Amino acid sequence: MGGTGPRLRVELDGIPTYKPGKPAAVGGPAAFKLSSNENPYPPLPGVMEKVIATAGLFHRYPDLSCAGLVDELADRFSVPPEHLATGTGSVGVAQQLVQATAGPGDEVIYAWRSFEAYPIITQISGASSVKVPLTGAEVHDLDAMAGAITDRTRLIFVCNPNNPTGTVVRRAELERFLDRVPEDVLVVLDEAYREFIRDAEVPDGVDLYRERPNVAVLRTFSKAYGLAGLRVGFAIAHDPVAAALRKTAVPFGVSQIAQDAAVASLRAETQLLERVDSLVAERTRVAGALAGQGWTVPETEANFVWLRLGERTLDFAAACEKAGVMIRPFAGEGVRVTIGETEANDLFLQAAEAFLKEL
Ligand SMILES: Cc1ncc(COP(=O)(O)O)c(C=O)c1O
Repeated sequence: MGGTGPRLRVELDGIPTYKPGKPAAVGGPAAFKLSSNENPYPPLPGVMEKVIATAGLFHRYPDLSCAGLVDELADRFSVPPEHLATGTGSVGVAQQLVQATAGPGDEVIYAWRSFEAYPIITQISGASSVKVPLTGAEVHDLDAMAGAITDRTRLIFVCNPNNPTGTVVRRAELERFLDRVPEDVLVVLDEAYREFIRDAEVPDGVDLYRERPNVAVLRTFSKAYGLAGLRVGFAIAHDPVAAALRKTAVPFGVSQIAQDAAVASLRAETQLLERVDSLVAERTRVAGALAGQGWTVPETEANFVWLRLGERTLDFAAACEKAGVMIRPFAGEGVRVTIGETEANDLFLQAAEAFLKEL
């Protein structure tokens, strides 16, 4: 018969593939993984016990509606349960948001560089990406983003803090921006790193959602709560957006283990947030040490730092790997380095210092 095989959607041509952070080499010199913004702490014993108990039930489907988790979140955020939608990590929910709002002929606006899933999920939906460059200070250029809105715009991502730069937009500028967005355009405040913010001028997206029907907030259990491997995230959004998210969800996408671990983590929040405090203290130490070595480090409110290395990016990543730490290079642009355990951070700082000296 010959031929070209099943016809696939042309929108998939040239789609960028998601590059996961490189793992720490087993038995190799790179013992630490600072490439995926993961939480370096192992699961809390109480959360682990819950996961083990639920694991004995995996011959059953999970609760389709994630009712236990949704009720817990509704209480926690004082929002109606109908305004919550869960998914397979917040990246799963982000994809549902794009699918629910944008298709061929439509536009999705986001800053660039930002979270690398945005171009992928936009292209899969058939919509076009409108990438608005960050400012020279590596911050969202909200004026330019507002200026990029057309009658084709359906969704705008604002990643706050921004991955990979760690920079934030603050209350006054974000409110001014939201005032300029037409009410039929959805603004998604991606707050995957919310718990690491210490700058009081950065608004809580949930407060903005309360006042604005076209604002949705994305949160995750992967970072501060340490459940990256279990895949659970959620959105808080008004109707009809939240209802559309439930329609676009993969049925039974969030396992019962993930649901129960998320509830257990919310109940163990005090302990988990103490760990976040320690990571924030490490962030201050690492950023200060880098600045002391002579690096320019954009102010970060997330669990990572960004160094714009340009052409030296891959050499720097190789030097770090040799020193025992995997980091995340973006070739030709810069590196993102997760704040990890103290020993890993020290190895990274030594590698950074040695790299500068060799220049
Ligand atoms: C800005 C941002 N949003 C969303 C995610 C997705 O996280 P998850 O799907 O694990 O919830 C990430 C993960 O790196 C991220 O950096």
